[in-house]
Amino acid sequence: MTDNAEPQARIEELRTEIERHNRLYYIDAKPEITDREYDQLLSALDALEKEHPAFASASSPTRRVGGAPLANFENVRHAAPMMSLSNTYSKEELVEFDRRIRKLIPEASFDYVLEPKIDGVAISLRYENGELTQAVTRGDGTVGDDVTANVRTIQSIPLRLSDLMPPAVLEVRGEIYMDTAGFAKLNETRQEAGLEPFANPRNACAGSLKLLDPREVAKRPLDAIFYATGELDGVAFDTHEQMLNTLKSYGLRVTPSYWLKDAIEEILDQLDALENMRHEFPFEMDGGVIKVNDRRLYEELGATAKSPRWAVAYKYEPEQAETALRAISIQVGRTGVLTPVAELEPVQLAGTTVKRATLHNEDEIRRKDIRIGDRVIIEKAGEIIPAVVKVVDEKRTGAELEFTMPVACPVCGSEVERREGEVAIRCVNLQCPAQVKNWLTHFASRGAMDINGLGESLVEQLVDGGLVKTPAELYSLQKVEALGLERMGEKSADNLIKGVEESKKRPFEKVLFGLGIRHVGKGAANILANEFKNIDALMAADVEALEAIHDIGPIVGKSVVDYFRAPETRAVIDQLRAAGVNFEQADAGGSHELEGLTFVLTGSMESMTRDEAGDRIKARGGKVSGSVSKNTSYLVAGESAGSKLTKAEKLGVTILSEEQLINLLGSDEIVGDENAGQMGFEF
Ligand code: IVH
Repeated sequence: MTDNAEPQARIEELRTEIERHNRLYYIDAKPEITDREYDQLLSALDALEKEHPAFASASSPTRRVGGAPLANFENVRHAAPMMSLSNTYSKEELVEFDRRIRKLIPEASFDYVLEPKIDGVAISLRYENGELTQAVTRGDGTVGDDVTANVRTIQSIPLRLSDLMPPAVLEVRGEIYMDTAGFAKLNETRQEAGLEPFANPRNACAGSLKLLDPREVAKRPLDAIFYATGELDGVAFDTHEQMLNTLKSYGLRVTPSYWLKDAIEEILDQLDALENMRHEFPFEMDGGVIKVNDRRLYEELGATAKSPRWAVAYKYEPEQAETALRAISIQVGRTGVLTPVAELEPVQLAGTTVKRATLHNEDEIRRKDIRIGDRVIIEKAGEIIPAVVKVVDEKRTGAELEFTMPVACPVCGSEVERREGEVAIRCVNLQCPAQVKNWLTHFASRGAMDINGLGESLVEQLVDGGLVKTPAELYSLQKVEALGLERMGEKSADNLIKGVEESKKRPFEKVLFGLGIRHVGKGAANILANEFKNIDALMAADVEALEAIHDIGPIVGKSVVDYFRAPETRAVIDQLRAAGVNFEQADAGGSHELEGLTFVLTGSMESMTRDEAGDRIKARGGKVSGSVSKNTSYLVAGESAGSKLTKAEKLGVTILSEEQLINLLGSDEIVGDENAGQMGFEF
C-alpha cells in the first residue's frame, strides 16, 4: 500500500499486521521480524492514530497501556459462575473419579484430556464481537474484580480475536502467570531496590494484577493460558480439543501440550511422565488437570456446589529437600544491598545440587526464625533460586545460633543503613569494592559496553589491585599496568586495552544501561536514549518530564533524577565523556547498502557473536529476523547450524558462510568511519 492510501485503511492494515506479528511471536513462537521492526510498526500506527483521532479504537495495539491509575477495582458479576476444581494428591481418588463418571453415564464412550495445571491466577476474559471488553478475576466464583486495564497490558492476550466472523460473545477462562525466568529477574530487581521479594511466581502474579497503575503492570512479565469457557453466543464446541484449537486460531494461548487417553490408567501413567517434565514449562506447573474431552457430556455430568464433575486436578508434591544450614554469609550487590545467604550442606533438589539459598533479608530470617545450625526445608521458588521454606523445629538441639545482620559492610567496613520504607540494609559507601566490582562487571557486560576480555575475575583483580575504582578509570588503564596483573600476558593485555577502546563506540543506550542506574534496565535505557538523544538533556530532566514519557513510571523517573543529582555520578560522567565515551544518540542515518535485505543468522561464528553480526547488518540498513521464511534474503550459517539451515535450503534461500558475510559487510574501518561523526564531542 502506498503513502497516499486512505489513512483509515492504512491504520487498519497496520493493526492487522501488528496483531499478526503478536500471534507469530506469542502464540506460534515463530517471529518473522525483530523487536525493533515491531516497534517501528507500532510507532507508525501511533503516529497515524494521533494524526487521525477519528479512527481511534480501544482495541488498537497502541492502546494496551492507557488511562490513569485506578482508584480501586469494580466488582463484576460473572455471566456464568466461575467454578474451581476439586484437587487431589491421590491416584486412588482419580480412579474413583473415573468410576463415578462411568456410573453417571454408563453407556457413553469418551476420552480424557490431560493438561498441565498452571499455578497462577484464574481469569475470565469476555470478547464481544471479537473485541476484549472485560477481564475479571474469579473472586468468590460469582463476583470478581474488574482488572481489564491491567490485563490489557499483557502482550500475549489479543485485544481483538483474529477471526473475520467472531462470535457475538466468547468468554474464555484461563490462568495468568508470571514466567519463571521473569519472576527470578523481578525478585532480583526488587531486592536491589531494597523491596520485599515475592515468595513465588503466583504471589508475584497476583500482586501484579492488583496494582492500580497499569503502566507498572505492563512492566511485569505476565502471560496467560486459556483452558475453559464461560458464556458463549454464536460459537459451540463439541470437544475440549476442538475448543483448544479454536481458541488458538483466535490468537489465544492454550497449553503447549496435552494428552488424550481413553482409560484412567493411561492418564495415571501420563501424569508421572508429566511430572518428569515439570521444569520444561515456562510456568510453575503444580499438577495435571484431567477433563472429559466430550463437552456434550458436561451437562449430564453436572457439578457440585463448587466444581464440575467432568474434571479434576491432580497435584504434585512440592519439590523440597531437607538439609543443614551451616552458616549465613553476606553478599553485597551492585546497589550496595546486603543480602544474607544460607550456606547449606549440599543436597539434591529438582535435578541439581544446591549449596546456597537466598534468605532475602533480616525480616525474613526473623519471621521464619532461622538459626545457624538448623535443619531446614528448602524449595525451589520459581524453579530457579532455592529458598529456605522453614526450619525443622523438632530437630533443634539448642546449639543453634541466632543471626544478626552486620552493622558494617563486610567488604569495606563502612557503615550500613536501612532506608525508610525498605527492608534491605545497604552499604553507604559508593566506592565499596563490592559495589565497584559489580558495577564494573555490569558496565563491561554484553548488553552494556560489551568490553571484550573484561570478565568477573579480571574486574576482581583490577579493583583489588587498586587500578580501577570507577568505569571511567578503565579508559585510562595502561598496558603496563594490565601486564602487572596475574596471568596477564602480552596478548590478553592488548586485547583488554583494545576492548576498552572499542567500547567508546557503543551506542548511547548501551552506555546508559551500563551506568547501572537503579531501575533502568535495557528497555528503559532504550526509551530514555531515544527520547533525550544525549546525556545533557537527560541530566537536565526533572521527574515530571521523565514521567511524561510513555512507559517510564514514577519509580524510574525518581531513580534517574536521584542518580544524576549525586555529585559522584556527575564526576564519573565527566570523566567518561572526557575519555570519549559516546553520550549521544546516533542519527538513524548509517549506511544503506543492505537496505531491503533480510538476514537470518544461525549457528556459531568464529570472528563475532550473532548479536554483533546483527548490529553490523543493521548498521548498514539490513534487517535481521529470527526465523527463515520465503522473505529471507540470506541465511548466514555458522558452525553447527541446524533446522534453520535445512529450512532455508528447502525454501531455496541463499546461504552465506561467515566469510561471505564478512565480505559483504566490508571491513571494520567502515564501521569506525560511520560512527566517527556521532562522537563529535567538544570539551
Ligand atoms: S480447568 C470449571 N485447566 O487450577 C473449572 N484449570 O485447582 C475449569 N487451573 O480452578 C478449570 N490449570 O484456576 C483448568 N489446565 C487447567 C488449569 C486449571 C490451572 C487452575 C484453575 C482451577 C484450579 C484448580
